[in-house]
Amino acid sequence: MKKLGFGLMRLPQCADGSIDLEQVKHMVDDFMAAGFTYFDTAYVYGDGASEKAAKTCLVDRYPRESYQIATKLNGWMGCHDEESAKKEFEVSLERLGCGYIDYYLLHAVKEDNLHFYNDWHLWDFIKEKKAQGLIKHIGFSYHDQPELLDQLLNEHPEVDFVQLQLNYADWENPAVSSRRNYEVCVKHHKKVIVMEPIKGGTLATPAPSVADVLKKAEPDMSVASWAIRYVASLENVIVVLSGMSNQEQMDDNISYMRDFVPLTAQEQEVIHQVQDIMASLDQIPCTACHYCTPGCPVHMPIPEIFEAMNRNILFGNKESAIKRYQRVTKETGPEDCIACGQCEAACPQHIAIIEQLKRTQEAFS
Ligand SMILES: NC(=O)c1ccc[n+]([C@@H]2O[C@H](COP(=O)([O-])OP(=O)(O)OC[C@H]3O[C@@H](n4cnc5c(N)ncnc54)[C@H](OP(=O)(O)O)[C@@H]3O)[C@@H](O)[C@H]2O)c1
Ligand code: SF4
Ligand code: SF4
Repeated sequence: MKKLGFGLMRLPQCADGSIDLEQVKHMVDDFMAAGFTYFDTAYVYGDGASEKAAKTCLVDRYPRESYQIATKLNGWMGCHDEESAKKEFEVSLERLGCGYIDYYLLHAVKEDNLHFYNDWHLWDFIKEKKAQGLIKHIGFSYHDQPELLDQLLNEHPEVDFVQLQLNYADWENPAVSSRRNYEVCVKHHKKVIVMEPIKGGTLATPAPSVADVLKKAEPDMSVASWAIRYVASLENVIVVLSGMSNQEQMDDNISYMRDFVPLTAQEQEVIHQVQDIMASLDQIPCTACHYCTPGCPVHMPIPEIFEAMNRNILFGNKESAIKRYQRVTKETGPEDCIACGQCEAACPQHIAIIEQLKRTQEAFS
């Protein structure tokens, strides 16, 4: 299997906010024509719209054996008890219409939500579905510390793979622990699928001091390509998911992943240089995954507010950052936060959201 996977979480949209299915069909066709076959969606993405788009743009148009599809059971968003959690599997199969799932995951497991997966017997549930032939490979996506990951892999030797957030910027970041989590998987001989290799897009437009180093090293390669190639170079990584949201990103990623060549020692040295530069910047590590927003009682646009703040930190252009901030906080802003903490419990990056909202408000007031 080629190492680039198509993440279906950030698909192109039409003016009315629906998924632009015609554009997705073109992207799927180019992806398949270049020999890539792995697609990643989830029960909760777009409230089902992502799985439905996978059916329309892929499943209904290609022979079943020509691609692999991954989807996920979410035990803490979109369900309320064991029965409704297990029902997600059936609904996903129906929405996708693909007969069986190639890679099935327990979604975004971390300490705060682990009890749902344990108490509702969801580990056994996916094992049974695999035994019934309805799933080919079982795994989980993971957003926590290596000690817990080690414990989970000891308790669940049956899992075939783990999906991890790996990127060069968070390689040594103690909140994400990319390197240490990867090493735990290697120790347990588990294959790794990478999510958020470009840190949700932020490594495509890093601080100018970082972009300059990368552009100088490889003037013809995109800045984003370094992030994808860095994690694809890891031996246990079988797929790197990129949430490509337009044709241009698809063309770029296909261009260097079609005949993938791991980073050379010299290129690894360039990455070390930019890791050092990034460690000196005080960015909010938000990947704009939006896991925090659906449950916010005041509908706070958290990732958009943090994006404005990061633009200010990275580019030092306060005027344009303030304009952006004012635009996104027209309806609701940090002053409306009731500090309920829902968002912090949901955030895979463990961001102190309440405090960072206050900090942003102060910076822009
Ligand atoms: N299981 C989980 O817990 C979990 C969590 C997160 C993600 N995922 C999965 O992993 C997939 C990947 O995650 P992600 O979407 O956050 O990944 P990502 O690759 O880190 O970020 C995707 C964003 O990177 C930018 N990008 C991609 N290729 C580019 C290129 N060649 N040039 C410039 N920009 C480029 C785009 O940002 P802009 O469009 O903003 O420019 C795109 O939306 C998701 O689609 C999803 O399927 C799973
Ligand atoms: S702490 Fe504030 S931002 Fe977070 S969910 Fe509660 S009200 Fe929303
Ligand atoms: S604050 Fe956390 S949960 Fe919310 S979008 Fe950013 S990374 Fe995702």
